[in-house]
Amino acid sequence: MKHLLSTQDLTRDQAVRLLDIAEDMAEVSNREVKKLPTLRGKTVVNLFFEDSTRTRVSFELAAKRLSADVITFSAKGSSVSKGESLKDTAQTLAAMGADAIVVRHGASGAAQVLAERGWTNAAIINAGDGTHEHPTQALLDAYTMRKRIHDGVAVTIVGDILHSRVARSNVWLLASLGARVHLVAPATLIPIGVEAWPSTVGYDFDVAIDFKPDVIMMLRIQSERMNHAYFPNEREYARQWGLDDERVARLPVATMVMHPGPMNRGLEISSVAADSYRSTVLEQVASGVSVRMAVLYELLTGSLA
Ligand code: CP
Repeated sequence: MKHLLSTQDLTRDQAVRLLDIAEDMAEVSNREVKKLPTLRGKTVVNLFFEDSTRTRVSFELAAKRLSADVITFSAKGSSVSKGESLKDTAQTLAAMGADAIVVRHGASGAAQVLAERGWTNAAIINAGDGTHEHPTQALLDAYTMRKRIHDGVAVTIVGDILHSRVARSNVWLLASLGARVHLVAPATLIPIGVEAWPSTVGYDFDVAIDFKPDVIMMLRIQSERMNHAYFPNEREYARQWGLDDERVARLPVATMVMHPGPMNRGLEISSVAADSYRSTVLEQVASGVSVRMAVLYELLTGSLA
């Protein structure tokens, strides 16, 4: 496997291997000297056409912990803002000897285009493409769950499924790993074609809570991708589909509350829920470094079959 573009085309064995390696990488992060020489001499370019905090910083940290040279490049402040195309940008980075390009782009399929057009020989890692996929987010979510729960996990994903690349990547990966995945959202935020996904769908959050899922994953309302109203107003959304103080109190003690970040506190999740002992939001961020170290290691040392 040369690239990581989606979880839909990741086999179960490949996913499990990445999660196993992430466990070893987490051990490195607990050492006093948090560094391995594994990728010395390799160059990793973070190419971000959309804003990011967690993904960009954790890929940079992951590459540095493996001793790679890292360049972080955001569209703002680069020649992209002068109109340079994805092709010319990719070829420029290839000419500088990039071994891996971590790309986040607003267009679904952008990472695949980079991987398939032959503009670069670098390994391409999808760090989020439009509403399509965000595979390393799903891997870090699965890694966070795996540390706490074993077989047969029931995961309820709630919120803006329509615009969520995190939901898509999680549905495919979690199903392949044996989880039961249930989606909950207003009908307007459920994508066309969801029947073909390996998940079930509901519209009532309170009913979903009564089923006592092992994990509730709240999604961010992606206002920046909404060009018309998908729900009456924010207060009504929070009342029907938000994880508020009352709903979080009804959850079983062991239920994990996840959110990929960034969070809209008071909209899809209350501060009480986000900061509760059930919340794994910061644990997910820490998992992200280990998982991204595993992905860079596997793709750049060529050991992932
Ligand atoms: N979860 C996630 O992708 O966060 P960022 O947009 O901050 O990278």
